[in-house]
Amino acid sequence: MGQIITVTNQKGGVGKTTATMNLSAFLANEGSKVLLIDLDPQGNSTSGIGVDRRKVQKSLYDVLVNETHPREAIYKTKYENLDILPSQVVLAAAEVELVSHLAREHKLKNALAKISDDYDYIFLDSPPSLGLLTVNGLTASDKILIPVQAEYFALEGLGQLLHTVQRIKTNLNPKIDLLGVLITMYDKRTILSRQVENEVKKHFPGKVFETIVPRNIRLAEAPSFGKSIFGYDKMGKGANAYKSLAKEVHIKCR
Ligand SMILES: Nc1ncnc2c1ncn2[C@@H]1O[C@H](COP(=O)(O)OP(=O)(O)OP(=O)(O)O)[C@@H](O)[C@H]1O
Ligand SMILES: [Mg+2]
Repeated sequence: MGQIITVTNQKGGVGKTTATMNLSAFLANEGSKVLLIDLDPQGNSTSGIGVDRRKVQKSLYDVLVNETHPREAIYKTKYENLDILPSQVVLAAAEVELVSHLAREHKLKNALAKISDDYDYIFLDSPPSLGLLTVNGLTASDKILIPVQAEYFALEGLGQLLHTVQRIKTNLNPKIDLLGVLITMYDKRTILSRQVENEVKKHFPGKVFETIVPRNIRLAEAPSFGKSIFGYDKMGKGANAYKSLAKEVHIKCR
């Protein structure tokens, strides 16, 4: 059965989508069968991986709300071994519509039970909130990867996130575990970046990935071409960082 990893932090713009897309792309390129699930109504990882959201017939919304079989909403990407379960704008409504459903927190988990054998890794890109979509992601997952941006306020909100994870572990998904905390957008020239690194390591002893993702403009440019960093700037610092992160993830999941 595949490892299901949710990339989450309710803080916006910390690098969740960038991490999800590039980890998925690298592991797929190395030969693992990978599914990327876009849990965010913004749909950044759907379009970032080169899928036109307007042309998608069925999406995560149908899987969650109409109980469409997930295989009907999974599409191939231009990358070998990498499939996507895309998001559409309508997914924003799922957050409200699901409230009246029975076992609303288990919708994604139940859907993934039908397909998780098809994949080695399933990565979930979460929206910047702790709402029902994120809760569905956490309930369905084996592991959590938390990106934090090497900026002031980096640790703000992490207490609330960990509290939510603990509640989910107690009530909905006892097997969920922290895979690691990823420091992103690190600028080695600034004292602030180093301070944040130290703070994060102090708060999460033994749980911070050795790989630190530098601030790298190529990582920000790649999605506008519908490409992963490996398709856009294979030899650059950004690609190197995500390559080494993917190796760490692979080792930790074995
Ligand atoms: N290492 C990096 N260096 C430079 N820019 C980056 C890096 N990682 C991400 N970015 C850029 O920073 C912005 C936020 O990143 P991203 O979309 O991955 O964050 P997010 O947590 O998914 O955001 P949201 O909460 O809105 O979903 C994007 O424009 C992205 O291209
Ligand atoms: Mg995002």
